[in-house]
Amino acid sequence: MHIINTITDLHTARTALRGRIALVPTMGNLHAGHLSLVEKARASADHVIVTIFVNPLQFGPQEDFNAYPRTLAQDCAQLERTQTDIVFAPSVHELYPQGMNHITRVLVPQLSDILCGAVRAGHFSGVATIVLRLFNLIRADCAIFGEKDFQQLLIIRRMVADLFVPIEIIGMPTQRDNDGLALSSRNQYLSSAERRVAPTLYYVLNVIKERLEADPTCDIPLLETWAAQQLCEVGFNMPDYITIRDAHTLDTPHAAQPDWVVLAAARLGAARLIDNQRIHIPHAAA
Ligand code: PAF
Repeated sequence: MHIINTITDLHTARTALRGRIALVPTMGNLHAGHLSLVEKARASADHVIVTIFVNPLQFGPQEDFNAYPRTLAQDCAQLERTQTDIVFAPSVHELYPQGMNHITRVLVPQLSDILCGAVRAGHFSGVATIVLRLFNLIRADCAIFGEKDFQQLLIIRRMVADLFVPIEIIGMPTQRDNDGLALSSRNQYLSSAERRVAPTLYYVLNVIKERLEADPTCDIPLLETWAAQQLCEVGFNMPDYITIRDAHTLDTPHAAQPDWVVLAAARLGAARLIDNQRIHIPHAAA
């Protein structure tokens, strides 16, 4: 496995690879969720490239860019066991040598302005910009992303479609702890008491899923309010959102389009947790 820090070395190593290439973009601090993406990459291609880069462009001024866990040595030790070919772990200066103020940015309108985008101004433009830069640098055939970041995945798919980027985007199911909490690097911001109540998020999303799949005509705003109350009762702040949407557009869902998703983001102590559950409206209701 080559661990590479510069674009020049990346070009040399990339040029030597033959066959299909799969890319797994990450911000490091790898857990079993990331490793499932790498496993999928390995099954989808001849070579696997993992990027590790905590991208300052996607963090707001009050967010956790400085505190974000950086564990490169452990990450590389884990990747060594997955037959990853290349780890690309550049510095901020390597990827943004001119700084970030005047660079070309990618903006995926509408999808980037709602839900997480409404509370994290500029976040998704920062994500789309770094992801396109990585796509252009690495020229992979496919890239693997987790469905936990559901809105991010839709935005990347839209960017790739709109800009005719020649890459296949593969989404992978969310990996969870035994009690249902979605794996996330930010879970380590939870105290042990908060960690015990954190799976309530998964629980309420599942209740909503079950209720809507049993009766798609039930009162959606009432369900959303109930879920927010449940979270507040166990110690979450009032959620940034807990909302049921069309899984393709993130618009208000309609019975005629049976793929829905319930998405939530809520703070628990120092951690902002996000999660989602897909909802399949029975055919008879459509
Ligand atoms: O999901 C993430 O870890 C990041 O948003 C990504 C896609 C690696 C871009 O920095």
